[in-house]
Amino acid sequence: MSPTLQNDRLLRALRREPVDCTPVWLMRQAGRYLPEYRATRARAGSFLAMAKTPELACEVTLQPLARFPLDAAILFSDILTIPDAMGLGLYFAEGEGPKFERPVRSAADIARLGVPDMETELRYVMDAVRLIRRELHGRVPLIGFSGSPWTLACYMVEGGGSENFAKIKALALNDPVALHRLLAVNTDAVIAYLAAQRAAGAQVLQVFDTWGGVLSPAMYREFSLPYLARIARELERGEGAARTPLILFGRGNAPYLEELAASGAEGVGVDWLVGLDEAARRAQGRVALQGNLDPAVLYGSPEAIRASVRATLDAYAAGNGGSREGHVFNLGHGLAPDMSPGHVAVLVEEVHAWSARTS
Ligand code: CP3
Repeated sequence: MSPTLQNDRLLRALRREPVDCTPVWLMRQAGRYLPEYRATRARAGSFLAMAKTPELACEVTLQPLARFPLDAAILFSDILTIPDAMGLGLYFAEGEGPKFERPVRSAADIARLGVPDMETELRYVMDAVRLIRRELHGRVPLIGFSGSPWTLACYMVEGGGSENFAKIKALALNDPVALHRLLAVNTDAVIAYLAAQRAAGAQVLQVFDTWGGVLSPAMYREFSLPYLARIARELERGEGAARTPLILFGRGNAPYLEELAASGAEGVGVDWLVGLDEAARRAQGRVALQGNLDPAVLYGSPEAIRASVRATLDAYAAGNGGSREGHVFNLGHGLAPDMSPGHVAVLVEEVHAWSARTS
């Protein structure tokens, strides 16, 4: 046991050390599927007000831990805090997702961007990290996070969510030098942001490359992968047992598993388009793997959920020489607002029960 943590399964799994059972946390574990989250959000008035008020961010971060025996907390915030702090003006149009008042549309817009100051413009994030660490009392580790340079660039150039990524792909084709400049400033900002969260108390760090999978292999290797690798290389995070592990999560990243496993990150998060047996074989023990249950499994019955959890756990072990070491259980993407908290409880319980009984 780590001296400051009562439950260090996640840290041990990310170091590929033995654990009593497989650790589990869930992307979007704090969110609209929980009635207590909806109540806090109603009190705050909006998602952004909640994310920008450390006391409320702390409150919703802790809500899923009060219900389920999860092995980690994840900072309640958003990946779009960085472009917001760069001056793009983040807002949420009701029912439409995130949008920017001043999207990046030209090389001149890109030239004006700079790395925000972490303890002024993004102080509310660091204050939330400090408060959550205090309120966790060492029960479980706290995960800090950032968007990837490419995924942030998608929102910055598209001005919000996108169906076909027409604007950023046009920029990649017509002015790749400008896009590389945008990705470079995003990378500097991501490294500073993760370092500041670590200094404020985050014990694990995750980068979300949600949209890397919309790129062709050649474009992924030009516009996403090198910047993920630069983060893994340059982010200062200590050595040995004191090292703060970094997880690179990406949707559609299975074709690049070997390259991600060689990036220097401690963990790679995968979605459900790849079997964990294949993923574990290809990672060759170079990183821990996180994932990868299809979130839609939560629409199934409790019996179906248990069967899918067991199959995911056993697939990892089959590809990892029969051992469960180095597996962090998660979904392949986030929980959705219409999912049942009761079904989430079944999932979490089964991960612990099945992995303890047969490891
Ligand atoms: O996982 C957690 O519990 C931590 C909190 C978290 C949120 N966003 C809260 C949130 C995390 C890690 C994120 C990351 C994030 N934000 C990503 C990467 C992960 C992913 O989902 O692929 C992306 C692409 C975003 C951008 C973003 N923020 C979108 C597309 C949306 C709208 C989606 C929706 O469900 O409406 C948001 C808003 C958002 N971020 C919500 C939450 C809980 C919903 C806000 C609400 O209450 O209305």
